Amino acid sequence: MWARPPRGRSRTATSSSFLSDWLKAVLGTPGLTALRDAERAREMLLDDALRALPLLERFAGAVIDVGSGGGSPGIPLAAALPEREVTLLDAERRKCDFLSRWAPPNARVVWGRAEEQPAEGWSVAVAKALASPPVAAELCLPLVRVGGAAILWLGERADLTRLAAASELLGGGPPELHDGLVVLPKIASTSPGFPRRVGVAKKRPLA
Ligand SMILES: C[S@@+](CC[C@H](N)C(=O)[O-])C[C@H]1O[C@@H](n2cnc3c(N)ncnc32)[C@H](O)[C@@H]1O
Repeated sequence: MWARPPRGRSRTATSSSFLSDWLKAVLGTPGLTALRDAERAREMLLDDALRALPLLERFAGAVIDVGSGGGSPGIPLAAALPEREVTLLDAERRKCDFLSRWAPPNARVVWGRAEEQPAEGWSVAVAKALASPPVAAELCLPLVRVGGAAILWLGERADLTRLAAASELLGGGPPELHDGLVVLPKIASTSPGFPRRVGVAKKRPLA
């Protein structure tokens, strides 16, 4: 069972106890993560999320975590950047119920599909373990305005050639790889028609 978030000052998202309590709740809630070990969960869900901070600082404005699941990377990033608006998006209601209990004050939770969100409504879209690289690009880049970026946790071995082809079709520039995180800069508006209707990106990836 998830633990109730602490109330009041101790819930201040910048406090490390808030993030430790959130991690315990993720581990304690069936269906949110396959991880069982607390140390490993801290590395994978918290430390790995915070690696994106220097990249996020390059792009001012609102952030959306696409496929937030139990809240990584969106909750640690919202906690570390209390002045930024963060949207935690997930297609599963149960996960959104969990996210709503743990969202820091600068974060809001949206239950829905990436394909159905307003186009170019955020500066940065982040996504971790969402989908294969071209699919993640199609779900994220249309949400970002020109001058912003999608930041994807893909690992060092991601196929950047296929990703570059998808990015170009979506108004994105060439992928930049930073220690397993891939930045797709948004250099032009995404053509109408993208993202394609729900499920099509996965069924027929752009590259
Ligand atoms: C494997 S989980 C990853 C969760 C979290 N980002 C992490 O790294 O622990 C992928 C999540 O993406 C969500 N998802 C998949 N496709 C989506 C879509 N088109 N729109 C919104 N959420 C989606 C799923 O419901 C699921 O919670």
